[in-house]
Amino acid sequence: MNFELTEEQNLIRDMVRSFAETEVAPSAAERDEQEHFDRALMFDRLGELGLTGIVFPEEYGGGGADYISYAIAVEELSRVCGSTGVTLSAHLSLCANPIFMFGTEEQKQKFLTPLATGEKLGAFGLTEPSAGSDAGGTKTTAVRDGNEWILNGSKIFITNAGEAETYVVLARSDKTAQKHRGISAFIVEKGTPGFSFGKKEKKMGIRSSPTMELVFENCRIPAENLLGQEGQGFKVAMQTLDGGRIGIAAQALGIAQGALDATLAYAKEREQFNKPIAAFQGVSFQLADMATQIEAARLLVYNAAYRASAGLSYSNESAMAKLFASETAMKVTTQAVQLYGGYGYTREFPVERMMRDAKITEIYEGTSEIQRVVIGAALTR
Ligand code: CAA
Repeated sequence: MNFELTEEQNLIRDMVRSFAETEVAPSAAERDEQEHFDRALMFDRLGELGLTGIVFPEEYGGGGADYISYAIAVEELSRVCGSTGVTLSAHLSLCANPIFMFGTEEQKQKFLTPLATGEKLGAFGLTEPSAGSDAGGTKTTAVRDGNEWILNGSKIFITNAGEAETYVVLARSDKTAQKHRGISAFIVEKGTPGFSFGKKEKKMGIRSSPTMELVFENCRIPAENLLGQEGQGFKVAMQTLDGGRIGIAAQALGIAQGALDATLAYAKEREQFNKPIAAFQGVSFQLADMATQIEAARLLVYNAAYRASAGLSYSNESAMAKLFASETAMKVTTQAVQLYGGYGYTREFPVERMMRDAKITEIYEGTSEIQRVVIGAALTR
């Protein structure tokens, strides 16, 4: 067992950290305040740096790197801006990856390559008003008509929606089948007649990442846009989320690390009772706990990422990584605000944004409760 990062993984960390600190961090607070998705910075630049398809083979415009490198990239972006971290994670894990895993050669050439190179942004449409944790309750329909599928219904809380050009969407293609059976996955392009965007969410955190509703009204897509086998869409979605949870776990890890780094610097500088607050054992014990939890989260995240690259099973490990990293992010950012005191509660300092950003990592791509369902099922199977 080797816990050391490879030279390539270290180079990717250095490159992404430098980009994150010099280009992403300076506008993070303002973008959060204004709920502004800066595509040139938050996506186009990621494409220029080779991050938008980092794990895919070079023949599809990818970088040919492993999942640990990808996790490191999401971690480093999220260390300064959780919104930029999730932009990459939703694009790569939830849209490009299912096309890579389940797409035909034609679909990979047509859809994966522009996603991997960063020419196009991707999104994933699973959640519906009455199908959140119960993803098998999908009500959006897909009816076959000659050489086309006709989609009707809506999807909510979709990351990257509105901005993205390519969408992987789940819909019920067989109304007679029970629950998760009878769901299929489709690739839908922005601009297709009958496909529009509804409400834009006003959120607590990750405010510079757009979250919108997708609306399908007699939206006709070509039959060849079916992704994977007809009726196997639920499994496409579950396997997609197995990978997606590594991305969100890495996002949570990055947010937590960012909060610790800021708090450590503050605690060494801030003096009360004639000494830096870091010199009080009560404070240093809290910092020690924060650092220890983050390191444990990192090992879980990199382990799940390692298994994904090595072709081993990783559904259970990615659920554990996401569960632990997201709860760590929430704990660490809450402690960070506490250690900053009154200053931490203001928007002058980044820790309150980090605390707001951390909360969503316990909710999307499966709540903490759903991760426990997945882990519990694996234990008792
Ligand atoms: N890989 C492959 N197959 C899987 C699987 C996996 N990880 N998990 C389940 N399956 C298969 C099962 O083997 C079963 O197959 P059979 O029919 O052949 O037996 C089938 O799928 C149904 O499995 P379950 O009975 O376990 O399904 P369920 O209805 O009880 O649901 C669940 C299980 C884990 C609760 C699932 O519904 C789930 O993960 N829910 C959470 C959904 C979620 O994470 N939503 C997030 C939306 S995306 C998002 O947030 C995006 C964003 O923009 C950032």
